[in-house]
Amino acid sequence: MAEDFVIEMLHITKEFPGIKANDDVTLQLRRGEVHALLGENGAGKSTLMSVLFGLYQPEKGIIKKNGSEVRIKDPNDANDLGIGMVHQHFKLVECFSVLDNIMLGVEPCKAGFLQKDIARKKVMELSERYGLRVDPDALISDISVGMQQRVEILKMLYRDNEILIFDEPTAVLTPQEIDELMEIMRGFKKEGKSILFITHKLNEIMAVADRCTVLRKGKGIGTVEIANTTKEELSRMMVGRDVQFAVEKAPAKLGDVVLSVCNVTVPGHVHKKDAVRDVSFDVRGGEIVCLAGIEGNGQTELVYGLTGLEKITHGTLTLDGKDITHASIRQRSKDGMSHIPEDRHKHGLVLDYSLENNMVLQRYWEPQFQQGGFIKKGAVREYSDRLIQQYDVRSGQGSVTIARSMSGGNQQKAIIAREIDKDPKLLVAVQPTRGLDVGAIEYIHKQIVAERDRGKAVLLVSLELDEVMNLSDRILVMYEGEIVGEFDPKTTTVQELGLYMAGAKKQGKEAQ
Ligand SMILES: Nc1ncnc2c1ncn2[C@@H]1O[C@H](COP(=O)(O)OP(=O)(O)OP(=O)(O)O)[C@@H](O)[C@H]1O
Ligand SMILES: [Mg+2]
Repeated sequence: MAEDFVIEMLHITKEFPGIKANDDVTLQLRRGEVHALLGENGAGKSTLMSVLFGLYQPEKGIIKKNGSEVRIKDPNDANDLGIGMVHQHFKLVECFSVLDNIMLGVEPCKAGFLQKDIARKKVMELSERYGLRVDPDALISDISVGMQQRVEILKMLYRDNEILIFDEPTAVLTPQEIDELMEIMRGFKKEGKSILFITHKLNEIMAVADRCTVLRKGKGIGTVEIANTTKEELSRMMVGRDVQFAVEKAPAKLGDVVLSVCNVTVPGHVHKKDAVRDVSFDVRGGEIVCLAGIEGNGQTELVYGLTGLEKITHGTLTLDGKDITHASIRQRSKDGMSHIPEDRHKHGLVLDYSLENNMVLQRYWEPQFQQGGFIKKGAVREYSDRLIQQYDVRSGQGSVTIARSMSGGNQQKAIIAREIDKDPKLLVAVQPTRGLDVGAIEYIHKQIVAERDRGKAVLLVSLELDEVMNLSDRILVMYEGEIVGEFDPKTTTVQELGLYMAGAKKQGKEAQ
């Protein structure tokens, strides 16, 4: 019996300088299914989806829609075929409103005049029907990533797309938003839309997908029915070995206070209120302290204040006994602070620099990399090659690869390598494993624990409670700009943390 495939990608090969990103890959999408695409960082998932969306032309292979071959030369062709895509790094015009972004390129016009009301009506209807809450008049630069993603989804629906590609949509979402998105996907499926879904989170695949295709180093490993598989089998297919999900660590050996945060207040941008209010805590050497909380409760601003990206309006910061309240970012870095930032594109990398130049961004002036004002290119290359090797940063051309062309997860691995290898006294790690595959997460968690065991202070900011519970020695919960509770992960539960994160409880006052 012939199967009902809406899209078939047959024997696709796509090469980039130095690498076959897709090597004879076949993927068949059934009508009305959620089809997951799984693979390590750099396995070729985004590339394969970009081929389907017309962004890249494959060297070999063909694409069929409803059984007949089609040519997809650009995203307009993809749109005409009903194919839409939400990219790993969103593609919205920041200074445009939500509505303008959604209708961009397909504006309703009559006699040469824009009919914005028609677009607004359609957007509001779609938003209502699928539970995608957005404010049509807000500027993209002012709204949360969660809402930006809803805008991207509405863009596809506005164009009446039937085949929806989601490239790591959940990497940037809070757990609550992830549940909502899963529900939205189920809704699409009920209406007969077909979905391609890239994620590194196996739980999500088990929860919504019907089938899963696995890629490894550009090659198709196989397609499995989710009903007949397990998380363990999926990770084995993907990495080629068993992956350990739990983090093993010895009890913490506490050293001296490394970071001291005293009555710190950081202003907010969105509302008039301060984003962080009168927060105080210490992080000692040899411990991992985690700031937990629902996104938007001041964690981002607190980290900006600590790392010097934003000026604090009140309070003091001390790093290893030295007052750094007013120190520059470079000074803080020199004094032993490392920072794995929340937004890797904005604060982590210079995207148009090579990988090696990114690796020495905060150190190129050191004698080992510079003499008499000239960069020692050989030394930089050697250093970068070592980090690439040690942290398994995959790309087409190694040290000379332009950061922009690297896969999202490998960009992240490069930043982590650089920040840990600086041998800091304090490591501030914000969502360090965002976008990493399960094998890479296992490795990075081990590195963070190793830093702590070498006596370093680690401040971890994470939205993922699994990571919080697994990795930290002490948990501080933030709610509306304040620290509302302190917990020992060994004696608390996810449910208990949840109550504090939601503001239902607060230590010292309403507690007991
Ligand atoms: N435009 C490009 N130019 C050069 N090389 C590229 C380009 N796009 C991707 N690559 C390379 O192709 C390989 C596959 O990248 P791709 O982005 O498809 O990986 P991925 O599976 O999506 O990984 P991740 O999970 O990290 O997002 C990577 O090694 C990457 O460096
Ligand atoms: Mg990708």
